[in-house]
Amino acid sequence: MRKQTRVFAAALLFAGSIANAQSSNEIVGDDAAPNVDTPMEEAIAPDRHVPDFGKAGYSATDGKALYESLCAGCHMPDGKGAIGAGEYPSLAGNDLLLSAAYPIYLIINGQAAMPSLGHLLDDEQILAVTDYIQTNLDNDYETDGTLELVADSRPETEEEMATEEHAIPQESAEPSAKRDTVANVVRHGLPNSDFPILQAVEVPADATLVYLSGTVPQVLDDSASEGAPERFGDTAAQTDSTLTSIRSKLEALELGMGDVIKMQVYLVAPDGQDSMDFSGFMEGYTKHFGTDAQPELPTRSVFEVAGLANPDWLVEIEVVAVRP
Ligand code: HEC
Repeated sequence: MRKQTRVFAAALLFAGSIANAQSSNEIVGDDAAPNVDTPMEEAIAPDRHVPDFGKAGYSATDGKALYESLCAGCHMPDGKGAIGAGEYPSLAGNDLLLSAAYPIYLIINGQAAMPSLGHLLDDEQILAVTDYIQTNLDNDYETDGTLELVADSRPETEEEMATEEHAIPQESAEPSAKRDTVANVVRHGLPNSDFPILQAVEVPADATLVYLSGTVPQVLDDSASEGAPERFGDTAAQTDSTLTSIRSKLEALELGMGDVIKMQVYLVAPDGQDSMDFSGFMEGYTKHFGTDAQPELPTRSVFEVAGLANPDWLVEIEVVAVRP
């Protein structure tokens, strides 16, 4: 059966001029960096199909043995993945394994339903299992992992995890198209740009899309009278408070900011200015998207509008999310 796919294309307006806007990345909120010390029982939700890890460390340095005891329970012995309580991606013939940086980072830090396993394995074991999956399970890549890369991917503290050097290196580890395994969403980054939006995203026809109504800023200073700029803050503050509200709304629906695939932004020019404060908007946006804690990006368009329902509002944002 032919798979239908919806493709959302992003507006690339401004992409060239504000390419450095991402540098103000910050960790926000509590779903921040995965905790490497989380015991296995907590790292894996009880309803998932979980292999018997045991609590002791693994003595094997043989990548195959490690794969079979630690990974095959979820990704299956042939690496072809599985759909059960959750969906476990196929590692077989997976071109995201071309560069060792991606699997190494995931093994250590986990991601979504993939538990962080870094605390169970020493550096050599991580390298051994990475070498194994790069060269087996229908994969035939050069093993380019090194002990140094493993050591570099290990966060020493959560705080350190938030720093840029622990982010997955863009060129090698962030593939141009990255699959969101659960809903089979395919995210296409911008070619040759680190501007933090997607070029396109593919959503399978059977995925559930969740549309949020336009969300507007919160009052930040109750004592400021209506019309006073302090009441809702500037564009950066209004963007941050709007996205924080969006995040709460998503959480109430058991979704997260990482599930957002499409965003439309309406900005009003601040009083006394000719045009919208796009860089202020980017300052707020980059606190919520493309961070180490929340690396996913949506497709996005930004419009300047003449006004919003309340004359104090400078920002209104609509998002569409995919339910994983
Ligand atoms: C408890 C189940 C579980 C175990 C055990 C597990 N994984 Fe995963 N793995 C997942 C899930 C779920 C994902 C998808 C994560 C996501 O949605 O981002 C994943 C994703 C991955 C990916 C990314 C694949 C892609 O296409 O993006 C790699 C690589 C990977 N796992 C390797 C491993 C290796 C190697 C091991 C063993 C050392 C392992 N996993 C153990 C559940 C597991």
